[in-house]
Amino acid sequence: MSIRVGVIGMGQMGTYHAEIYQKLPLVELVAVCEFNDERRKEVEQQFGVKAYKDYKEMLANPEIDAVSIVLPDNIHREAVEVAVAYNKHILLEKPLAKTLEDGQALYEITKDYDKVFTTGFLLRFDPRFNMVKQALDEGELGEIIHLYCRRNSPITGPKRYIGSSDLSMHVMIHDIDYINWYMGCEPVKVFAKGRSVLLKEHGMQDVIYAIVTYENGAIACLEACWVLPENSPTSIDDKLELVGTKGVAYVDSSDNGVRFVTDKRIQYPDSRHWYYTNGQVAGDLAEELMAFVNNIIHNTKSIITPKESLDSLRVVDAIERSLAEDKEVEL
Ligand SMILES: NC(=O)c1ccc[n+]([C@@H]2O[C@H](COP(=O)([O-])OP(=O)(O)OC[C@H]3O[C@@H](n4cnc5c(N)ncnc54)[C@H](O)[C@@H]3O)[C@@H](O)[C@H]2O)c1
Repeated sequence: MSIRVGVIGMGQMGTYHAEIYQKLPLVELVAVCEFNDERRKEVEQQFGVKAYKDYKEMLANPEIDAVSIVLPDNIHREAVEVAVAYNKHILLEKPLAKTLEDGQALYEITKDYDKVFTTGFLLRFDPRFNMVKQALDEGELGEIIHLYCRRNSPITGPKRYIGSSDLSMHVMIHDIDYINWYMGCEPVKVFAKGRSVLLKEHGMQDVIYAIVTYENGAIACLEACWVLPENSPTSIDDKLELVGTKGVAYVDSSDNGVRFVTDKRIQYPDSRHWYYTNGQVAGDLAEELMAFVNNIIHNTKSIITPKESLDSLRVVDAIERSLAEDKEVEL
């Protein structure tokens, strides 16, 4: 049996998805969809499969079993609604949606969906963040007192997302998702501060600091900034410090264990998310897609539930409300 897969949105991430599917056993990449004419021609040639312009037409094809939806954040809702109407297995890139209203609508149609539905929270497949979860579950760290995390990246990122996304739902949501997962209880309050300087003309935040308080009293302090210089040596400078009643856990990924200093670059390249090994895309993105395919084959649910996808968006919504109202807000 082979699973016939299509990818919708062939930008940076969609291209990685398609490359990974094309190398996976028991999977056949049968179609891609890209709105931009020039890009569509390129990917049709690169992947040698039918390239649709309209995702509704692609989703109507009964030969496609499963899709990755890798569209800009602000247009996730309609694509998922159509994919559900055609009964496809769905891997939706994070976030669930750009707004809480759209997220709630998607939660309603996916919570009891009888096909696989998952949201691409990559760090669930990152061994480092996973090891911290295991240590928490085994009681080795005790109860969480507080944690601090940061996720900083160069300004090349937001320049691609003008009008379609912002820092909280695009970047910080990765940390929100694993923190909710670690805490195992509801977030109740959020206080956030942001500054918009380099991205002001686009109405986007340069930096956000957010303090989230959980039902169990634990506090999480999140920092995200996506205006580092374009020539920053690392594409994602992220850190976690988690303090528990019995121990502390640290994740520091700014230096991925490999460095180049040459005439052309000073770079600490990605060796975690979507790097190439022996000509193939490897890393936690590939793990995430393999988990999706495994869910389809074994008729199991994703480890990331629609409720969790919505919960992360609820925190994002509270961060945006706190920024707008300049005060602590309740969830
Ligand atoms: N998991 C991660 O770490 C991670 C990292 C980056 C991006 N993402 C997510 O992946 C998604 C895509 O991000 P990206 O960086 O690849 O963006 P991108 O801008 O590079 O790609 C989006 C592509 O979708 C195409 N598109 C837009 N509207 C379309 C439509 N109606 N029909 C068909 N194609 C359409 C665009 O032409 C573009 O090629 C976003 O939801 C983003 O949040 C996730």
